[in-house]
Amino acid sequence: MRATQAVGFGAPEVLVPVEVPEPVAGPGQVLVAVAAVDTIYVETQVRSGWGREFFPVVPPYVPGGGIAGTVRATGEGVDPAWAGRRVVASIGSTGGYAELAVAPAEALAVVPDGVSFTDAAALVHDGVTAARLLATTAVRPGEQVLIVGASGGMGTVLVQLAKAAGARVIGVARGDRKTALVRDLGADAVVDAARPDWVERAREALGGAGAEVVLDGVGGEVGLAAFALVAGGGRFSAHGAPTGGFAQVDPADAAARGVRLLGIGDVRLTAPEHAELAGQALRTAAEGALRPVIGGTFPLERAASAHEAIESRELLGKAVLTV
Ligand SMILES: NC(=O)c1ccc[n+]([C@@H]2O[C@H](COP(=O)([O-])OP(=O)(O)OC[C@H]3O[C@@H](n4cnc5c(N)ncnc54)[C@H](OP(=O)(O)O)[C@@H]3O)[C@@H](O)[C@H]2O)c1
Repeated sequence: MRATQAVGFGAPEVLVPVEVPEPVAGPGQVLVAVAAVDTIYVETQVRSGWGREFFPVVPPYVPGGGIAGTVRATGEGVDPAWAGRRVVASIGSTGGYAELAVAPAEALAVVPDGVSFTDAAALVHDGVTAARLLATTAVRPGEQVLIVGASGGMGTVLVQLAKAAGARVIGVARGDRKTALVRDLGADAVVDAARPDWVERAREALGGAGAEVVLDGVGGEVGLAAFALVAGGGRFSAHGAPTGGFAQVDPADAAARGVRLLGIGDVRLTAPEHAELAGQALRTAAEGALRPVIGGTFPLERAASAHEAIESRELLGKAVLTV
């Protein structure tokens, strides 16, 4: 079958189309004919060789952890009724950039009629993480939520879900196209991260005490600056690191201001929990209440171009691979 492999750690060019043996569904698994594959920022970092203590992949490997497609075969102990169904699954960190992929049956969520495979793949991680973030930070109607990295794959979903939860949403994104997108998605105020005074602008947009919740999908110095915008007694989630590291907030500072700190560990889920939230996101999309923002689709063979587009920060929203 066709797949795209990372043949080494390095620039996007290490992603090359290859022929590899077809996988077989083992006990408790299904074989999925993949139609669309999610791409997320961390896959570009893993490909570059970053974070090897957390992502123990060794080249050559087939990247890709989020797939959408049709169940082609079921393994031992799996309900045969899954065969032929349109599904998404989160399958870990590898195996997705391929024509066929194996998924644990407990990781499957059904793709409703009317939701395309491309949209389904776009939501398989971002829809789940966004819903989980709003749950762990316990966003309530009327609260102010500041979303840093609001124009990205997950950020664009967060803006929509936080609005639907009744929050007043302030988005932080870079440049005219991206700030316009975030406004179109329903944000009440948008701050351009390219401005040197973006923190002051955000403070003005928040007015007075600050944000009850800050969701930081960017990390580094930007995330640390955003921490200053959390209201006393609020919540701060440092789950993003496209800058190269999570926001390093001093727990003593947080404690002094009564701010609850959350991190990447708080968005880790079991396969059934993930499937449950993925199903919810897809049903919300089917109702028309959630729209993934896909700035580019790329054929499987051009996964390197998708990674380049993500890293160059040109895309509005996210990139999806089609098979
Ligand atoms: N997707 C998930 O389900 C998930 C799960 C757990 C954790 N996370 C983490 O959340 C973060 C966002 O993930 P994503 O998949 O939504 O990524 P994405 O679509 O690439 O979005 C990242 C956003 O971060 C902003 N950014 C700011 N500084 C950046 C920099 N130095 N390099 C690149 N981007 C920068 C970019 O917006 P501007 O250009 O407008 O600044 C971009 O829109 C990542 O760190 C990821 O690991 C994601």
